Amino acid sequence: MKSATRILLGLWFLGGAICSAEADDLRSRVLREAAIENGLVPASETHVASPEPLVEVGKKLFESRLLSLSEDTACASCHLDKFGSADGLPIAIGTEGEGIGAERVFRGGDIIPRNVLPLWGRGGKGFDVLFWDGKVERNGSAVHSQFGDEAPSNDPLIVAAHLPPVEIGEMLIDNKSTLELQTETVETANSVYETLIERVRENPELGDALAKAQSVSLAELEFSDAAEAIAAFIRTNFRVKPTRFHDFVFRGAPLSPEEIKGGLIFYGKGNCVACHNGPYFSDLGFHAIASPQVGFGKNGFGVDYGRFNVTLDVNDKYMFRTPPLYNVTKTAPYMHSGSVDALSDAIRTHYDPLIFIDPKGMTGLERVDFYDRLKAWSHEPISGVVLDEDEVAAVVMFLATLSYVSDQKVEVVD
Ligand code: HEC
Ligand code: HEC
Repeated sequence: MKSATRILLGLWFLGGAICSAEADDLRSRVLREAAIENGLVPASETHVASPEPLVEVGKKLFESRLLSLSEDTACASCHLDKFGSADGLPIAIGTEGEGIGAERVFRGGDIIPRNVLPLWGRGGKGFDVLFWDGKVERNGSAVHSQFGDEAPSNDPLIVAAHLPPVEIGEMLIDNKSTLELQTETVETANSVYETLIERVRENPELGDALAKAQSVSLAELEFSDAAEAIAAFIRTNFRVKPTRFHDFVFRGAPLSPEEIKGGLIFYGKGNCVACHNGPYFSDLGFHAIASPQVGFGKNGFGVDYGRFNVTLDVNDKYMFRTPPLYNVTKTAPYMHSGSVDALSDAIRTHYDPLIFIDPKGMTGLERVDFYDRLKAWSHEPISGVVLDEDEVAAVVMFLATLSYVSDQKVEVVD
């Protein structure tokens, strides 16, 4: 090759490299701006501080089986670190369950009709809508919940921490011994709380530490003191931490071209950001994604009306709170009934609901139910989006940049 040609080729390569570096730079800049425009803030701006002694005793309570009447289930039985603070099962196994993860299925136990929600970011600033159907949510200065006008706190996370111990099958055993408690009224709940807090008072590890952290005497302890401590632990241990994506947006750290491509689809063509926005990648609003329904369903016979169960408004049928996406690579299976195993399939089912459905195998009733779900879905800002396989793979890569680990491992303690 003549040296002049070699120089020319060299220049051409250099020129190409500069152009693609500029394009990369532009793509990174666009992605950073999109993230900020759509509500991403530095992780620390979502934090709500809690006193350290309260957090410490909250961890012990979270890991203790004492908070289930039958003393066999702890919060940590279902909300496990190993599975990104969920349980790795499609739907949860509550009281009478043994072991963790898939082992719980083989050993039996009461089945909860919904997929366990991970706890990342819960109780952070503005994270005021809890559970798949928003059954606990802040409404002005009040908190809406099953407690009606008697909410035990004006902090939604503290109210939420009151619920598992009194929910049949979750931490309250479903058999004759609890028959009189199974009405799930505020009155019966209060009688369960009385028993549980008495146990805490009598426990040398828990009672004194909780009383001290709450600056009350042992005799004065109430269940809400325990719930407050658990909430303090959740909001501290599972608080949002800087992810690789935060570092990219706020500290100029690089992402791979594939991750950037996925991010641009997330904020652009895929329109994911229409619902997965804000500091938690959730609008904390309710939407109908016609994801496959497995299991008995909250409403029975394979049906879950979602938000409708809380509002009784027919327009809310089949709607669920947009799930936040932190650590989403670790929280399989996905969707409210845990019907989807792979992250890529969780994405596909958003824009192509028929992909996992076999209408021929359905009963007439199931088909009618599915058409209703499709109708609700068709009004959502995802119907009309189409992604090809490479694009889905890139979005999965992008979602993996939203991972972090908790400070303290949680495990059930005997
Ligand atoms: C039997 C398994 C199980 C146990 C035990 C359990 N949970 Fe859960 N948790 C779930 C499931 C399932 C959901 C989702 C239910 C729903 O939204 O309908 C959930 C949801 C939550 C949420 C709402 C998260 C969100 O995204 O809004 C909080 C908070 C929570 N649990 C805290 C606790 C605490 C505190 C304890 C112990 C006192 C506990 N859980 C015990 C299974 C369990
Ligand atoms: C119209 C609002 C909306 C849009 C747009 C949307 N989602 Fe979702 N997303 C939801 C809702 C609601 C669910 C839960 C649905 C259910 O459980 O049936 C969900 C579930 C998920 C899940 C499963 C999370 C879990 O913990 O189970 C992932 C992952 C996800 N979305 C990613 C995406 C991606 C990626 C896009 C863009 C291609 C997207 N979403 C677009 C509302 C939306």
